[in-house]
Amino acid sequence: MLSTERLNSHQLSRAAELLKQGQLVAFPTETVYGLGANIFLPSAVESIFKVKGRPSDNPLIAHVSSLGQIEQIAQDIPPIFYQLAEAFFPGPLTVVLKRSDLVPAVISAGLDTIAVRMPAHPLASQLISLCGTPLVAPSANLSGKPSATQAEHVLEDFEGKIAAVVDGGKTYLGIESTVISLIENHPILLRPGTISQEDLEKVLGSSIQLASSKRQGPALSPGMKYRHYSPQTPIKLFYSSELLEKHLREKHQSRRMLLASRPFLSLSLVNVDHFTLCSEEFYSSLRLADQQNYEEILVFCDESIQQQSGLMNRILHASGSF
Ligand code: TXA
Ligand code: MG
Repeated sequence: MLSTERLNSHQLSRAAELLKQGQLVAFPTETVYGLGANIFLPSAVESIFKVKGRPSDNPLIAHVSSLGQIEQIAQDIPPIFYQLAEAFFPGPLTVVLKRSDLVPAVISAGLDTIAVRMPAHPLASQLISLCGTPLVAPSANLSGKPSATQAEHVLEDFEGKIAAVVDGGKTYLGIESTVISLIENHPILLRPGTISQEDLEKVLGSSIQLASSKRQGPALSPGMKYRHYSPQTPIKLFYSSELLEKHLREKHQSRRMLLASRPFLSLSLVNVDHFTLCSEEFYSSLRLADQQNYEEILVFCDESIQQQSGLMNRILHASGSF
């Protein structure tokens, strides 16, 4: 069996060499770890789908280190793309554009579009520059599982199945990039993230439509229809502290529970552990709940959490409420 090399920040040339050979290498970005392959090697791209167990109709994001690379892989780029790029690149924003015919269709799962993003993490941009080509990379987790925010998480899912992981420690933001499509007449927000709808509207000076997962016809962003980010441990959501406290008091004798809330609730009940609910720690806490065999994760969605649309979106998906 292949053993996965764990590379540090001084071994990026080894990572680039493996990628050039058509191997898969995971690397950190400012959002979550990505599972990278060379965009121009279709067999490497196909192995991403296999290793992740990713449905073949869910397209991948191309990661670049310069605007020139975007102009190579996309065509008919509208002027508003450059407004967004100036404001948010490099950073946690992915933009869907029309795909150039030079790019293998497999990365876009057959769509004639391509999602592009310029990560702000120095290791990601150095690695892409060393490779000399964009890297396609989905989040580096088994399909459906919580995303990876540390190299250890990548190894939990892919030890022995990918060539290497570049260990850059914890990622900074903890949830995936905001995805916006510029394919139709109006920009459409496909996935919320740390860059909010309001941030985007301010830069564009116009309003942005939200994608509806209930839309008829082919999904605009195929990823939206699949179960995502979910641990084995069941998640229960609470919107009022009264209901949460009632549940805790009734069940804490019989069930080991992990409580995720923003304010620390000082209930000190047996069998209840607490973590602070925030984007940076969300996925690692879900993974921890599985490893340590908690029986339930209770998530307290108070108003401050409900206002964070990126985090709220991941909470709803993870709990299966989407
Ligand atoms: O922060 C991120 O975006 C991370 C890091 C590694 O960059 N990547 C990530 O990739 O989250 P992934 O594959 O887990 O999610 C990509 C999302 C999916 O919902 C997918 O359907 C959507 O972007 N997407 C990709 N290409 C698209 C396209 N051509 N049109 C519409 N949606 C697309
Ligand atoms: Mg993902």
